[in-house]
This record gives sequence, structure tokens and C-alpha cells, in this order.
Amino acid sequence: MATSTTRSSKKVTNDLPTTDEVEMDEDTITEETIEEFDPLPIEEDQQQQEEYPTNKNPDEVSLKLEKLKGIGPESAKKLRAYGINDIPALAVAQAPELIERLSPGGKNKNISLDYCMKLIVSANDYLQKTGILEKPLMSSKDLLARNMDRKKFTTGDEHIDNFLGGGGFESRSVTEMYGQFGSGKSQMCYTTAVIAASKGIKVLWLDTENTYYPDRVDEIAQLRGLDKDMVQSNILVIKPASVSMFTMYINKLEDYVTKNKIGLIVVDSVIALHKSEFFGRGQLAPRQQGLSHIMSKLVRTAQYYDAGVIITNHVIANPDPYKRGTEIAAGGNSVAHMSTHRMYLQLKGEKKPYTIATMVDSPRLPRSQVSFDLTPEGVMWKDPAKA
Ligand SMILES: Nc1ncnc2c1ncn2[C@@H]1O[C@H](COP(=O)(O)OP(=O)(O)OP(=O)(O)O)[C@@H](O)[C@H]1O
Ligand SMILES: [Mg+2]
Repeated sequence: MATSTTRSSKKVTNDLPTTDEVEMDEDTITEETIEEFDPLPIEEDQQQQEEYPTNKNPDEVSLKLEKLKGIGPESAKKLRAYGINDIPALAVAQAPELIERLSPGGKNKNISLDYCMKLIVSANDYLQKTGILEKPLMSSKDLLARNMDRKKFTTGDEHIDNFLGGGGFESRSVTEMYGQFGSGKSQMCYTTAVIAASKGIKVLWLDTENTYYPDRVDEIAQLRGLDKDMVQSNILVIKPASVSMFTMYINKLEDYVTKNKIGLIVVDSVIALHKSEFFGRGQLAPRQQGLSHIMSKLVRTAQYYDAGVIITNHVIANPDPYKRGTEIAAGGNSVAHMSTHRMYLQLKGEKKPYTIATMVDSPRLPRSQVSFDLTPEGVMWKDPAKA
């Protein structure tokens, strides 16, 4: 085992040497930079938290912040106060965000952007060397093998699962559903969340539209013969009422995910709050910037924590004068480019309405379609021949 020394000559027990440039004193982050701010009660289970993540051989690899060269108990304590609980949480941080957390308004002159970038690189380096993250240079063959172990979150219906690539929504990616009101976006989320929760998977549901109904969850669970109590307790709901609160919760996402061992994240919807708070061309830039930040956090959380992420999005009238009468997804490029798989849900049928979902953009799935009904049990495949 290699040991390394900080500038203050204290021994730090690093199993692996990380980037040599990261030379920090344990006391670089000073007390006055820390403002304890924990608006949500999170299940405190320090013991469990230290064993995270469970999807990779946790017995062999410690993910404690103190494992990184230069991070002693004091710095680790201060990072944890900001919700950066372990090495994966640090690895997914963004330097400008980290500096704002550790040194709000540039209060602590010791904490530079460069310093934060090195911390993040060091965390990624550690995860790569321990095999938790992909190595920086991998053969496509190795990547293929790695892709096989993605988790799947079933919709409970084989046809819909196959449309999603087999098995349902996948981990390590963000799947977006956009469509008009009543097209089944939330119903798809409910059904998938209920089934996942019934299998013991913890679901984090960010409800920005105030449309999360626990009674609907009860109904789906009961009609499917699932353990209602288990389902209800495995779904954790956050109801942000403003962009500020939504962004704050998103900033603390790693914290919620690690402490509660979240396997599936639902954001219903990603757009509602931004749409209502930012209006007019003048506010387009901050709105898009905010959405990009949220999307990139979701993408990184999915990837680093092997979590499934399902987001819903609205539609707007197509501004292209040659495509009058059609609709496009809201959120512009900020949402479009960052979603891994995008599905467009359209309501069809007048007497007996049903939904057609089209996979409009995906790096690996064909532009296929599937039809489904919205039933008391949740989403159910509909034979298009009988539509
Ligand atoms: N308990 C239920 N049993 C059967 N169908 C239901 C039930 N609850 C809702 N639905 C169906 O789901 C539809 C609403 O779908 P959903 O909530 O998924 O819409 P959405 O796409 O999320 O729309 P929005 O953009 O307004 O949030 C209702 O119009 C109804 O047809
Ligand atoms: Mg909805």
C-alpha cells in the first residue's frame, strides 16, 4: 500500500496514488466557509452511506473522501456539510459549482477554480483506478461488456419495455418523454416507479407540477397485487415550488441519492417551473442556462450512480412557418441534447383515446413506435390493429 504526505506532513493513507498535483492542506477549507444548510430530512445512516455504491464491489473499495490525497478528516467533514458525501459525489461535481459551495462569493482566497478542478480530477482518477468508473481509454469491446450490466426498470409491459430497448428504462441514461397534457407521461412514471419500488428500489420523485398523487400509487400497487406499504415507503417525493428550490434540490442530488440509496429518479416535469418563471426573449438565456445545469446534473448522476432517470417535458407549437400545426418539445437544445433517449407521446383516437409513443432520438434505439392505454393498473400495451 502506498502512503503519501500532505504539505502539513501528516500521513494520509491512500491506497492508490491520485493525481500528483493535488496537494492540499487538510485545513484549506476554513470554518467560516461552511454554512450548514440542510432543508430536507434525509435518513441519516452514516454506516450505510460509507458502503455506497452497492452496485460495484463495495467491500473492496472505500469511497470515503479521506481516501483522496490531501483530504483529511477536517476537509472531508466540510465537504460533507455541503452534501458531498463521498468520492463519487465529488467526481460528479462541477468546478464552478464546487467553488461556490466551498467558498461562497470567493470568501476563501485559498480555494481557487484550479484547486476545485484538481479535486474533481483526483476523485475521477481514484474511481477509474479502482474500476468503479470506466478507464479513460477503453476498447469498444470492454464498453459493450460494461453496458450489459445496466439496470432495467420495467414498465410492467413487455411491449413497452421492448420499445425502450428491452427490459424497460435503463440506468446510466436520461430518458425523456414529451407530449401534450394527458398523453400519459406521468402515468408512465407512476407505473414504472410503483413496480420498481415494489422490488425494493428506492425512487426519488421530483414533482415540479404538484401532480404527484400517492393515492394513484396505491391504486396501481393494489391492482397489480403489490405490497402497497413497501411501495409507498420506497418512493421519496420532493415538491419544489420555484426554480430556486428546484435548482437547490438538484444541487443536492448526490446527497439524496447516496444517503437514500436511490436507484430511480423521476423528474415530472423538468420544464414547468422554468416555463412559468422565465418568460420573454430577454429571459431566454438564464432560463436555458438553468435548464442546462439541471440536465447536466441529471446526466452525471445517472452515469456515476448507475441510476435510472426519467424526465417529462412539455410541447410547444412548432415555430417553423412551414410546419404549422405541429408541435415540438419545450426546453430547446438544453434538454434535447442532454437526454439520452427522447420519446414523443401523442394522444390518438377520439372515442377511445390511446397513446402512441415514438422514439424520436436515441443513440441506439430505432425510430420505432408503441401504442398503449392508460388504465387503472397503469400503462398497458394496445394492439395497434385494434385501435
Ligand atoms: N386512476 C386512473 N385510471 C385510469 N386512467 C387514469 C387514471 N388516472 C389518470 N388516468 C388517465 O391518465 C390521463 C392523464 O395522464 P397523465 O397524468 O400521464 O398526463 P400527462 O401526460 O402527465 O399530462 P400533463 O402534461 O398534464 O402532466 C387522464 O386523462 C386519464 O386518461
Ligand atoms: Mg403529468
